[in-house]
Amino acid sequence: MNSKILIAPSIIAGDLSTAGTDVQQFDPAVVDLLHIDVMDGNFVPNLTFGPGFIRSLKKHTNIPLDVHLMIEKPELSIDSYIEIGPWCLVIHYESTRFPGRSLSAIRKAGIKPGIALNPATPVEAVYDLLPYCDLVLVMSVEPGFYGQSFMPESISRIKRLRDKIETEKLKVMIQVDGGINTSNIKDVVSAGAEIIVAGSSAYRDMKVNENTATLKKAAIL
Ligand code: DX5
Ligand code: ZN
Repeated sequence: MNSKILIAPSIIAGDLSTAGTDVQQFDPAVVDLLHIDVMDGNFVPNLTFGPGFIRSLKKHTNIPLDVHLMIEKPELSIDSYIEIGPWCLVIHYESTRFPGRSLSAIRKAGIKPGIALNPATPVEAVYDLLPYCDLVLVMSVEPGFYGQSFMPESISRIKRLRDKIETEKLKVMIQVDGGINTSNIKDVVSAGAEIIVAGSSAYRDMKVNENTATLKKAAIL
C-alpha cells in the first residue's frame, strides 16, 4: 500500500493572495494533489473562498485538485464545484441530509466522490455510503483551521475503516486531514491511509516541494 501514497499540500496554509503564482512552482512529480479547503463560515467557524477562486487557481496548474467542501447543504451548490472538474470532490457527512444525492452527482460527472467525517462522527456512520464513494476523509482535527494538533484517536478510526473496506473488498481510498507531520505520517499510513493532506508541515518556510518530498520519505521509512 505504501507505494501509492499521495500527498496533498493544503493551500490555505500558504498566502492565498499569491496562490496562483505559488502553485506554478510546485513540482507535479512531488506534489500529487492540491488540497483546497472551502469553508462557508457556517458549517465551520471560518470562511475561505468559493468556486470562482478555485476556477482561477486551476488555470495556474496541472496538479489535480482535491476539493474539501466544509459547507452546509452542499447539494445546493455542488454543480458549480462539479463544473470546475477537480480530481475529487469531498462533502461532509454532517453537512447534509442527502449525502447520496451529491455523491451520485459527483460520480456521474466523472469526478471521484468523497465523504468526510468530523472527529466526533463514528466511522461506522458512513458504512452504508461506501458504495457511493471513491474515498473517505477521516478528519484528524476539528475542521476549520490549519495548524492544529493531530488527534491520536484518529489512528484507531482509520484502522477500523480500513478493516471494513478490506472485508467488503471495496475500492475506497482513505484520506487523512489535520496535523500531519513527519513524526506521525508513518502511523497514519500504517493504519491504512493513502491520501495525506498536509497544511502547515508542507508550507513550512514556503518550501512546499522539499517539505512534501520529506513527508513522503517519512511515510514509507
Ligand atoms: C482543516 C482543513 C485542513 C487544514 C490542514 O479544517 O481541512 O485541510 O488545512 O492543515 P494542517 O495540516 O496544518 O492541520
Ligand atoms: Zn481539508
